[in-house]
Amino acid sequence: MTEAALKATAFIQKARPHFQPKLGLILGSGLNEIGKRLTDATILPYQEIPGFTQSTVQGHANALSLGELNGVPIVCLQGRVHYYEGFNSEAIKTYIRTLKLLGAESLLLTNAAGSLHQDIPAGSLMMITDHINFQGHNPLIGPNEEDFGPRFFGMEDAYDPALRNLLEVASKKVTVHLAQGVYASVLGPMFETPAEIRALRLLGADAVGMSTVPEVIVARHCGLRVAAVSAITNLGAGMSQEILSHEGTLYHAQQIAQDMEKLISAFVETLR
Ligand code: HPA
Repeated sequence: MTEAALKATAFIQKARPHFQPKLGLILGSGLNEIGKRLTDATILPYQEIPGFTQSTVQGHANALSLGELNGVPIVCLQGRVHYYEGFNSEAIKTYIRTLKLLGAESLLLTNAAGSLHQDIPAGSLMMITDHINFQGHNPLIGPNEEDFGPRFFGMEDAYDPALRNLLEVASKKVTVHLAQGVYASVLGPMFETPAEIRALRLLGADAVGMSTVPEVIVARHCGLRVAAVSAITNLGAGMSQEILSHEGTLYHAQQIAQDMEKLISAFVETLR
């Protein structure tokens, strides 16, 4: 699908000539606000960009914005697709490879996630240190696209140690507590059973969500440096009295959005 990413890149470069982003930013459920804070922004609805797929999930703005945050050129994906929406991998590959072709060096992903620990409650931010792919799927299945990366590659430092360090520095600067942990990615769309939550914890996960990992795999394949932060919107199923719902996810994501914005803004400043 090299073709789709090339077409999307040509379209975006025509809409905003000579713009070279340093960072790509993917904003998860209910976390769109920071995308609106870019200065000198060009906003392109996904439906206008060739090959870009709109998310059907409420809380995703479905727009790409290019602009500056704290003097750093950024390209921001406000909204993402998930496998549970029924899309194939092309949509995800096109998003990420377009960021690469536009010239981004790094990618910061955000998501909403459930926590597997009582001491990482709803309202926390968690920096992802590693992941476990429980989606039963992989966006790189199929012929390898050599233009972007090798067939086989390592995932030891998928979450870039230097970027993780910068996130920690940024969190201290803005006094936002940043937990750390392993993110398990499941297919969804339903939330987990309490037994699944216990199993995920036993297997070494600290948080669970339905996104991010496919994007990280495509990004690492094409050599983008990756960092990711989860907005913890709930404790995992069975860990509290709360009945889980997407409305709850969006409500809690909004409560955390301010801390997420402060963190991202300070992180971006370290890239200047
Ligand atoms: N499980 C899976 N995905 C999620 C959750 C959860 O508990 N919370 C937000 N996204």
